Amino acid sequence: MEKTLIILKPDSVQRRLTGKIISRFEEKGFQTIGLKMTRISETMARKHYAAHQGKDFFEPLIRYTISAPVIVLALKGRNAIEVVRKMMGATFGSRSEPGTIRGDYALSNRFNLIHGSDSPASAEKEIGIFFTKDELFEYAPTDLPWIYDMSAGEII
Ligand code: RTP
Ligand code: MG
Repeated sequence: MEKTLIILKPDSVQRRLTGKIISRFEEKGFQTIGLKMTRISETMARKHYAAHQGKDFFEPLIRYTISAPVIVLALKGRNAIEVVRKMMGATFGSRSEPGTIRGDYALSNRFNLIHGSDSPASAEKEIGIFFTKDELFEYAPTDLPWIYDMSAGEII
């Protein structure tokens, strides 16, 4: 089972879309193992998006990221990183496919509602940045045997 970090960005919170977005992940079958509201500091934002430093959109991206509180979620499930990125849709709201989160709710090429980890290494790093150990929960969801076929002893 893979873990991933999701940030429901300031526009998700301001536009009251967080419940709808979280529901999509719950309905898909992902297990929430951590969830909280927080405000990303400028230092954290610069670190989080360090790969984009120097690009023309970097400073506006930092301003956007710290402009309002966010909700962070740690999710667990099969192939979580790739599945979540697919559910998010393409980076630019104007280009994302209908049926995806950005495709259904975003039009901007910057205000795109959601971040999802893009690799196992970044997921581990990002979960560690946003959650302490006691803010992450290990528990067995009662519907797990109906999300996956577990009848033969392995998870299919
Ligand atoms: P994220 O990192 O936020 O999950 O999004 P992503 O992988 O789909 O996109 P990425 O290329 O990593 O870009 C990071 C965020 O920067 C903003 N952006 N603005 N040309 C622009 O003005 C521009 N390009 C990217 C978006 O908010 C994007 O999510
Ligand atoms: Mg990215």
